[in-house]
Amino acid sequence: MIDFRSDTVTLPSPEMKQAIFDAKLGDDVYGEDPTVNELERLSAEMFGKEAAVLVTSGTMGNLVSVLAHCQRGDQIVVGDKCHIYRAEAGGIAALGGIFPTVLKNDSEGKLDLDEIEASIEPLNVHRAPTKLVALENTANAAGGKTLSKEYIDSVKKICDDNEVALHIDGARIFNASVALEMPVSELTKSVNSLTFCLSKGIGAPVGSVIVGSEKYIQEARKWRKMVGGGMRQAGIIAAAGIVGLNNHYAQISKDHKNATKLTKGLKKFPQLNVEDVETNLVFFSIDLPSPQKLADKLSSKGLLGGNAGSRWRFATHYGIEANDIDDALNIIELSLEEL
Ligand SMILES: Cc1ncc(COP(=O)(O)O)c(C=O)c1O
Repeated sequence: MIDFRSDTVTLPSPEMKQAIFDAKLGDDVYGEDPTVNELERLSAEMFGKEAAVLVTSGTMGNLVSVLAHCQRGDQIVVGDKCHIYRAEAGGIAALGGIFPTVLKNDSEGKLDLDEIEASIEPLNVHRAPTKLVALENTANAAGGKTLSKEYIDSVKKICDDNEVALHIDGARIFNASVALEMPVSELTKSVNSLTFCLSKGIGAPVGSVIVGSEKYIQEARKWRKMVGGGMRQAGIIAAAGIVGLNNHYAQISKDHKNATKLTKGLKKFPQLNVEDVETNLVFFSIDLPSPQKLADKLSSKGLLGGNAGSRWRFATHYGIEANDIDDALNIIELSLEEL
């Protein structure tokens, strides 16, 4: 099977499996797992932040990050297409009592700077106090587009002027860093907190990491414990993450090359309207009466990635090689001919 459904479907590399096998372990709730400690040290160092904490998933990372910034009744400014708002089961509201003010994401995943400024509520008994703005980089629903350092810093300036914090859902921040040819420490220097996923482009089986100041990460540890994320011998997760982080540049560069090749190939089919690609996510809409029929045909020939809707996403990731792109394009050509 060629599986383009998501960059979360990767299986651990032989090197990761060996690292998991060899990992030195301890009880991480006591702070005694040396491999978790090493992952957290490495993460903080890569991002130029004081500290880091391992969590189970990107969703938990965002939830814990927001909970550590906001009290019940506080307000967060988010985009209408961002994962925190649309795809995390309303956790910040259900578990945190945090009130989202939702701005429109543009086609590149950005929020309008004037709208951000206008949405920050003044201290007033009638208002939910604004404590946090959250951005997503890369912006998944916008086609894996990157947010530049200049844009992030402009948002941070507004946040600073209004004493509001800035969080980045950086599930795919390493894709942004590779595409923009800028280390994550530089790209995200100004932000207060960031969550990144080990289980996407990094290719590890489980986990995400939050980075920020020492004080903030201490607060995040409390919230992680509260939502059930205190893990014991979690070095078996961290070990694979360390391997993935150390190899991220080579892997993600390859994923982007494959995504570019896939995009070029898909653009040759007149039935597909393919969006420009920047990272590892290739989006296209389908001009056919039943996209589901195409999805069924593709999967019967060994290609996964379609869905019932008319806008599809194909993700490249560890395990997808250049020859898989050729094979996938052949399968698509054949399937379109048959329809
Ligand atoms: C942009 C973004 N943020 C957060 C997440 C959540 O990650 P997880 O699936 O590990 O909870 C995802 C998952 O697809 C994502 O695409």
